[in-house]
Amino acid sequence: MKVLLPASEVAPIIKLGGLGDVVGSLPKALAELGVNVDVIVPFYPFAKVENLKLYKSLELNVPYEGTNVPVEVYKTKLPDSDVDVILLKNHKYFSDYGKKKSVGEISEIDMFSFFDRAVVEYIKSGFNTYDLIHCNDWHTGMITHLLSDELEKSRPATLFTVHNLLYQGISSADLINDLGIIPGMHPLIDWDIADGDINFMQQGITSSDFVNTVSPTYAKEILTEEYGGSFADILKAREGRLMGILNGIDYTSFPREFNESNWQEIKPKLKSRLIKEFELDNDGSKPIISFVGRLDPNQKGLDILCEALPNILDQDVNFVLLGDGDDVWKQKLLDISKETKYKGNLGLKLAFDVELAKSIYSGSDFLVVPSKYEPCGLIQMISMWYGTLPVVRDTGGLKDSVKDGKTGIKFTDYKSESLFDAVKKAKDIFYGPAMVEMVNAAIREDFSWKKSAMSYSDLYKKVVQLRLDALK
Ligand code: GLC
Repeated sequence: MKVLLPASEVAPIIKLGGLGDVVGSLPKALAELGVNVDVIVPFYPFAKVENLKLYKSLELNVPYEGTNVPVEVYKTKLPDSDVDVILLKNHKYFSDYGKKKSVGEISEIDMFSFFDRAVVEYIKSGFNTYDLIHCNDWHTGMITHLLSDELEKSRPATLFTVHNLLYQGISSADLINDLGIIPGMHPLIDWDIADGDINFMQQGITSSDFVNTVSPTYAKEILTEEYGGSFADILKAREGRLMGILNGIDYTSFPREFNESNWQEIKPKLKSRLIKEFELDNDGSKPIISFVGRLDPNQKGLDILCEALPNILDQDVNFVLLGDGDDVWKQKLLDISKETKYKGNLGLKLAFDVELAKSIYSGSDFLVVPSKYEPCGLIQMISMWYGTLPVVRDTGGLKDSVKDGKTGIKFTDYKSESLFDAVKKAKDIFYGPAMVEMVNAAIREDFSWKKSAMSYSDLYKKVVQLRLDALK
């Protein structure tokens, strides 16, 4: 089985978010099961390739905007693996994306529209030898359509993974001209553009052979109006061809200074280090509760967190927050942190800092993840590995990975009071007899990719078979 996996990022070469972690680790786990996956991504100038063997393998002429656009195809390997990474280079379309939303004339959607076209040219240039194309999120949403359009019966099978339904990639319908799609000839496109715009997520979902998402619970949630919004009906129409597979994590990316048998000895030292780092008023006897993540007000629960924070801080606990993102919420957090009464109890760093994040995971007692929705979420798994109990909202992948009262604490309602109650529960656990047993249980959990990679391998086989059956 040979699979091509197009995506917008692949860690550690291009790492912008959780998607990059998944794309950088799943293919390695699949390789161990004998499934051969090539990853294909745009070659941004900030891609970390300095220490990698990189070579140019070919040049493509990609028909786009009515001309032929040259693309240089580079190849390298994912570090510590035999997984091929294909990087598509073009200065005009793939410039310094990631830091900004758009660069010069090229918007994010133009960039990925071009990427999708280029990926299809790449598949054709390799004599169409892939059995399956595994697309990821809206950035790859036009690939499945273009493949059907151009290769028709000889196209490979297609799987589309939804990592986050909220971000859909919407553009004015004119974009289809750049892609060389002629209106009036494609029912799924015509249906989509009837309202004047094209939606890449919708294209990926409707034109692929199978759809999956990154946890079983999120796969069910997105069929409801509350989580799926206008996509609930579109997804319901695909219900027999939709499933959820929980992401795993690559434990080798998270070195740990302790293990199951000595955490009680080592973790307090890591806690002291964290106390020093954030100048907290704590001799180690008070709990440290943390938040680490993208400051995305639509998803990560910042509104209920900011509302609950004053009450939480009145509980004689320390709160540490590390994150970057939305400016409005950054300012709100700064305002709270300026209040003198919270000095020594609140540690705030508004930045993206992978190393500091690891110190927080390992030095804290609890990690809150109050997400409004969470397709999978990786930090609750990482925090358990570091013996830090997750306090999570009972949704999506958080629901599927945390066991309430055993490996963490869950709350249901998306309300600051419910979050606050959960934090109070955490505090009681910290001072009570259950803490040690819960940390032991959390540390013993295994979220390595092994199981999930097996599910992907089975799904790949199933989707390829469905495609063969459809051709009979
Ligand atoms: C997105 C989702 C997150 C998920 C990640 C990887 O970032 O928001 O929940 O863990 O993708 O699939």
